[in-house]
Amino acid sequence: MTPLIQVAGLKRHYQMGGTTVRALDGVDIEIPAHTFTVVMGPSGSGKSSLLYLLGGLDRPTAGEISINGERLDQMDENALALFRRKMMGFIFQSFNLVSSMSAMENVAFPMQFSGIPVMERNQKSLQLLGQVGLADRSGHTPSELSGGQQQRVAVARALINDPQLVFADEPTGNLDTASGVTVMQLLSDLHKSGRTVLVVTHDQRMTRFATHKIFLLDGHIVSEEEYKSATLALDNQGE
Ligand SMILES: Nc1ncnc2c1ncn2[C@@H]1O[C@H](COP(=O)(O)OP(=O)(O)O)[C@@H](O)[C@H]1O
Ligand SMILES: [Mg+2]
Repeated sequence: MTPLIQVAGLKRHYQMGGTTVRALDGVDIEIPAHTFTVVMGPSGSGKSSLLYLLGGLDRPTAGEISINGERLDQMDENALALFRRKMMGFIFQSFNLVSSMSAMENVAFPMQFSGIPVMERNQKSLQLLGQVGLADRSGHTPSELSGGQQQRVAVARALINDPQLVFADEPTGNLDTASGVTVMQLLSDLHKSGRTVLVVTHDQRMTRFATHKIFLLDGHIVSEEEYKSATLALDNQGE
């Protein structure tokens, strides 16, 4: 079976004044559907760059990205926006909620252009908030919620358009241990309910839930052994 996500020769270089930052420098990946993939890498290894490219939020410098057999790197902006909306949900380290909106409105927000009536959108939002254990917080704004609760709102929001694919960028990075575990459990539940989940993180605990692991160092994929010895060396330097 063709993998859900196929990446070949992927590069993302940033021009910084006179120098070129090679955030991703020739990455090949295949991710089957219904898997939970964790991409591990230290800060600056290219994790966010990879996730943004896979999510169609950024364009590669070179290489091919296919999702469900469709070439993201060849789509125009409109096609890409549509594809994202119907296929993908995103969760970010800093939650990215709209501060003036209630939890219910935040969750319903990505549905605003769906043509579905507002009553129905709100109903779906409330149902998803229930699913993440926040039925009693639907009227609260982000500042009235803890970090862990805000991230659960963000998880619910990622699900509002029933995406097949869920991408998360360091979803536990700003959370205390207990809230982090709750969010990881929610992501694991999404995987068990049939979605394909891809998380980039440097949180070792995430790998507990993974069906597939990818290790990233300096814009390259490396083996688990290489990764462990390199990150051990980093730890010994006190990083
Ligand atoms: N917009 C940008 N402009 C220039 N350099 C960038 C930009 N985004 C990321 N980088 C650089 O690319 C490398 C990888 O960054 P990133 O993908 O954010 O890594 P990670 O998410 O693993 O911390 C880093 O060296 C970072 O400084
Ligand atoms: Mg990052």
